[in-house]
Amino acid sequence: MAKKVLVTGGTGYIGSHTVVSLMEGGYEVVIVDNLSNSNREVVDGIAAITGKRPILEEVDCLDKQALTKVFEKHAPLDAVIHFAASKAVGESVEKPLLYYRNNIGSLLNVLDMMLRFGVHHIVFSSSCTVYGQPDKEHLPVSELAPVQKALSPYGHTKQVNEDILYAAAYAHKELRVTLLRYFNPIGAHPSALIGEQPNGVPNNLLPFVTQTAAGLRDKLRVFGNDYHTPDGSCIRDYIYVVDLAKAHVKAVERMLSNALQETITPPDAERVEVFNLGTGRGLSVLEIVNTFMRVTGQNIPYEIVGRREGDIEQVWASPEKANRVLGWKAETPIEQVLLSAWNWEKRIRHIQ
Ligand code: UFG
Repeated sequence: MAKKVLVTGGTGYIGSHTVVSLMEGGYEVVIVDNLSNSNREVVDGIAAITGKRPILEEVDCLDKQALTKVFEKHAPLDAVIHFAASKAVGESVEKPLLYYRNNIGSLLNVLDMMLRFGVHHIVFSSSCTVYGQPDKEHLPVSELAPVQKALSPYGHTKQVNEDILYAAAYAHKELRVTLLRYFNPIGAHPSALIGEQPNGVPNNLLPFVTQTAAGLRDKLRVFGNDYHTPDGSCIRDYIYVVDLAKAHVKAVERMLSNALQETITPPDAERVEVFNLGTGRGLSVLEIVNTFMRVTGQNIPYEIVGRREGDIEQVWASPEKANRVLGWKAETPIEQVLLSAWNWEKRIRHIQ
């Protein structure tokens, strides 16, 4: 019988790509999403790609009664992938209570349900934000780099959620947890049927670039060119969302096959594994903009402005552990990734 995975936030950006990967891998998927930052048409996109419709339960993870019904209805579940969360760094500074309530309350409810209904495997959607600005000696960043004080309530909720999962795994010996720390996910499915659709003015670089190319924005503002990097702009590890999605399937497979733990971090939580998901290559803001212009033939007017508060100068992953232990690798060339982002933007803006 097909294994069944419940995916919270499964109509979101990374969630929807992961649902596609799971379905292509033969999993049955139940999406739980309150559609606060997505819409029902995403399910149409997933169905068009995979030829099969995932179940969508339009439920907020904070609504414990409704969540109970979902777990009851779809039992037995083999694993949960928990994406559902608020994710805008700036907004989290303005509305910290909302962020703590949503992001922490949701995980607590999901874990309660898992324990109650005997679901023992969870993949948690974490972020490289937990590392802050790593010291030079920790670049590229491995899973052993120290977690640093969060720079925003959003980042703090990721850290607290990781701590909750460690504590839960320690107390409940039947639980297995995989923490996936993403670097900067970009791009869209090659079909251009699903992709990233931020509300309002995008905060992230790639959607701002594609919207500028589409004529929705006059110009891109590059936040700072006086960093200690080769061209002065910030460096990130941009990872293709389709590659990232595949890592989730590998993580679920690993937990379900009950593979032995390779590392024990910290020593008292041996059923928690952490993986950094990136390409291992850092690219600057200007490299991204220039490569985008080259591969798409679109001009991106930009100006250099002051630094953005809270920005980290440079960070990129060591994906070595994920490569070796999960048997996963980010392989898609950046040119192809940037083109996929542009193709998606063109489709949703009806540009030929
Ligand atoms: N940038 C610009 N102009 C823009 C937008 C972004 O120059 O209009 C620059 C930023 O200054 C940064 C780079 O592009 O140097 C990437 O910025 P993003 O906002 O796309 O990504 P961040 O690395 O700042 O944020 C990401 C995730 C967060 C996470 C954070 C951890 O979006 O969820 O990494 O560092 F918390």
